[in-house]
Amino acid sequence: MNDPTYHAASGGTALEAFRLEGARALVTGASRGIGRAVAVALAQAGADLALSARSATALTETAERVMKEGRAAVLVPGDLADTGAADAVVDQAATALGGLDIVVHNAGILPSRPDGSPTMVPLQDSAQRDWDTVVSVNLNATAALCRRAHRYLAASPRAAVVLMSSLAGVAGTPRMEAYAASKAAQISLARSLSAGWARDGIRVNALCPGWTRTDMTSFAYATGPLSDWLMAHVPLGRWAEPHEVATAALFLAAPAASFVTGQALLLDGGASVPDGGLAGIPKPPSPFAGA
Ligand SMILES: NC(=O)c1ccc[n+]([C@@H]2O[C@H](COP(=O)([O-])OP(=O)(O)OC[C@H]3O[C@@H](n4cnc5c(N)ncnc54)[C@H](OP(=O)(O)O)[C@@H]3O)[C@@H](O)[C@H]2O)c1
Repeated sequence: MNDPTYHAASGGTALEAFRLEGARALVTGASRGIGRAVAVALAQAGADLALSARSATALTETAERVMKEGRAAVLVPGDLADTGAADAVVDQAATALGGLDIVVHNAGILPSRPDGSPTMVPLQDSAQRDWDTVVSVNLNATAALCRRAHRYLAASPRAAVVLMSSLAGVAGTPRMEAYAASKAAQISLARSLSAGWARDGIRVNALCPGWTRTDMTSFAYATGPLSDWLMAHVPLGRWAEPHEVATAALFLAAPAASFVTGQALLLDGGASVPDGGLAGIPKPPSPFAGA
């Protein structure tokens, strides 16, 4: 149960409410980018970590960073494109850590070509298999992980789930329809589970970053005109860094958010605020014009 006395027992000060001393946390997509930053942030707050991605080798650097913070790191690899893998990932994490208090399900993909670059094409020009792949990793795996994690989280005194959704799940995002729909569905799932699991003492929230500098977005920030155009739509005028997303994930996972559930927290530099042109931020022509 998310017991308010847990907050008091952890020291009672506002800063102490961000501590996760002894918490057992599973972070998926922890091999790089936002997931790595989240894992390190949770470790800095005192949690022990189970780290997941497709290959164990890719997780070793994150594990070293976690252990440098004095916390345990166990590797629970699995390819979440196969929803059957979610059970093993969750079970291995809970067995290795002796239970689970926190799940940050962060693994996610854009539809991509074999070279890894994203296929940013309108729905009518896209392949159904791309839709299926994106939905299997971004949405079906989310349901599978949550389904399996419930039994462990229900036994925790401070259970929290953070689903890494996206600004794309809130805003319409042409050329990224499958991604945006899967991210919107994660928000919907967080809302449904938050109510359904509240009396089991499990908080469930979605975190919705805007454009953040990671491998996933290197195609965009590495390209001047595309980056300039995207950032013209972000009132703060810049890319987010992974550690900024990690801090928000820590908040949602920690006793600091003990009365927060069923929410979609936007972390987007103001991109979701419609300025209607009134802010006077000049918008360059779209790089997609005529494409
Ligand atoms: N970057 C942004 O601008 C942005 C904005 C909003 C939301 N997000 C969301 O934030 C999350 C992390 O994004 P990121 O930018 O850090 O991406 P990233 O750098 O591409 O990292 C993606 C992570 O997911 C893992 N992953 C990919 N496919 C997987 C699979 N089939 N099974 C298991 N793990 C898999 C990757 O590990 P391996 O490749 O090692 O398996 C990696 O750890 C995603 O859900 C993304 O949608 C990102």
